[in-house]
Amino acid sequence: MTTTFITGANKGLGHETARRLLALGHTVIVGARDEERGKEAAAALGARFVRIDVTDDASVTAAAADVAAHEGVLDVLINNAGVHGPHGDPADLTGADALGVFDVNVFGVVRTITAFLPLLSRSPDPVIINVSSGMGSLAVTHDPSRIESSVVAPLYTASKAALTMLTTQYAKALKEVRVNAADPGYTATDLNGHSGPQTVTEGTDAIVRLATEEPGAGSGRLIDRDGPLALS
Ligand SMILES: NC(=O)c1ccc[n+]([C@@H]2O[C@H](COP(=O)([O-])OP(=O)(O)OC[C@H]3O[C@@H](n4cnc5c(N)ncnc54)[C@H](OP(=O)(O)O)[C@@H]3O)[C@@H](O)[C@H]2O)c1
Repeated sequence: MTTTFITGANKGLGHETARRLLALGHTVIVGARDEERGKEAAAALGARFVRIDVTDDASVTAAAADVAAHEGVLDVLINNAGVHGPHGDPADLTGADALGVFDVNVFGVVRTITAFLPLLSRSPDPVIINVSSGMGSLAVTHDPSRIESSVVAPLYTASKAALTMLTTQYAKALKEVRVNAADPGYTATDLNGHSGPQTVTEGTDAIVRLATEEPGAGSGRLIDRDGPLALS
């Protein structure tokens, strides 16, 4: 039995990941910051809900304590919660805007990993999946053949670049944990006003692959639904 915790699982890619992993036999815990939306999503999926706001230390600590009390172990942690941040003129960005985006997309992942590591350490094959983005790749965002090269989003891209770096650093540090990053690809969700061409099922292929790989599949990788991406 594989026990999997997903942040931001009340909608979008997190919700679809929960649906697919439940169908594959995982025990899935639906993490969401809003009690009502989280409970509703978990009930519809047939999963347990745990409240988690990744920007709030106390909330993250309480979520880990809840999983410790109920499941007692965690096999797969999926750091999926993310925000795009302001869509306005980059010339108007503020430090507070930057802190807000990084608080969810980067600092939230650090909080969550630290809180859940003791539970992951009880698993025979612990896995951490960070939902990053090709938008955080210097190679992808400078490749004219890629849609990501035509988008300007300084805070979102910088936060995802930081998240991919966090992934490779944790992979080096946590030898006993498989730590990888997934790039869902441009997918229709609330994050982008449903402008992405992919369905959420297509967008979760890389996440589901990382959550279901065999032990020894490797750590410190960034993959999309077609396979490995360059880390640069
Ligand atoms: N869609 C794409 O094209 C695409 C491409 C590459 C990467 N991604 C990444 O995929 C992940 C999921 O995004 P999505 O497209 O599914 O977007 P989404 O539908 O907007 O879902 C984002 C999820 O994150 C949650 N969240 C936001 N702030 C949070 C916080 N402080 N604490 C806990 N949860 C929080 C949201 O909760 P609320 O409902 O309460 O706001 C929601 O459940 C993100 O990391 C995103 O950057 C998306």
